[in-house]
Amino acid sequence: MTGPNTIKTPAELISGDFTAADEPFGLFAVWFAEAVKSEPNDPNAMALATVDPDGLPDVRMVLLKGFDTAGFVFYSHIDSAKGRELAATPKAGLLFHWKSLRRQVRIRGTVTRVTDAEADAYFATRPKQAQIGAWASKQSQPLESRMAFEKAIALNAAKYALGEVPRPPGWSGWRIAPQAFEFWHDRPFRLHDRITFTRAAPDAEWSKTRLYP
Ligand SMILES: Cc1cc2nc3c(=O)[nH]c(=O)nc-3n(C[C@H](O)[C@H](O)[C@H](O)COP(=O)(O)O)c2cc1C
Repeated sequence: MTGPNTIKTPAELISGDFTAADEPFGLFAVWFAEAVKSEPNDPNAMALATVDPDGLPDVRMVLLKGFDTAGFVFYSHIDSAKGRELAATPKAGLLFHWKSLRRQVRIRGTVTRVTDAEADAYFATRPKQAQIGAWASKQSQPLESRMAFEKAIALNAAKYALGEVPRPPGWSGWRIAPQAFEFWHDRPFRLHDRITFTRAAPDAEWSKTRLYP
């Protein structure tokens, strides 16, 4: 990924002391690259926390599909519970837990929808079966039987048998622009290392703090 939001990773972070990092995106990029090598599956899986209109938190896993200094992107259905919650309260928390590395990253920030062009471009990279599934699923709505879903899949597979599958209008992506990060690394006897980075605005300087475990 190159462009104005490209992450530059200081070489000294790659094997050095992570608490010496002076900004969070480069450190995230290093840890994510290590997770890609170490995790048995889905190193890009992250818990996404939202709140409903009563302020009751809601959390589920999604897959990170891109990140740069503009934010962290995932894709889903607009009318799903998360889609509706984000429309009402465009703020979210993300959590990565890389078990084999004994590391955790927390991210909090404001959320915007990706552009239609960005969503179209990502949708076009998905396997055709997944594209058809996106048309067939009314995500998070009650489903009377598995058979009803299979029927919707078969109908859409027939409809889009020839040619490319367009992106359903109710399917898109969201970008979380971080205003806070926390990096946590396990140390023996629960004497873990934790650092946070916070900033008041997207163009403000990051402020770093070390925390007790
Ligand atoms: C590892 C993992 C990754 C997932 N990735 C996604 C994803 O990228 N997008 C998505 O819509 N659902 C994904 N899901 C399913 C969601 O966790 C969830 O069941 C679904 O999106 C409906 O959530 P909602 O009712 O809160 O909107 C994933 C589930 C798991 C376990």
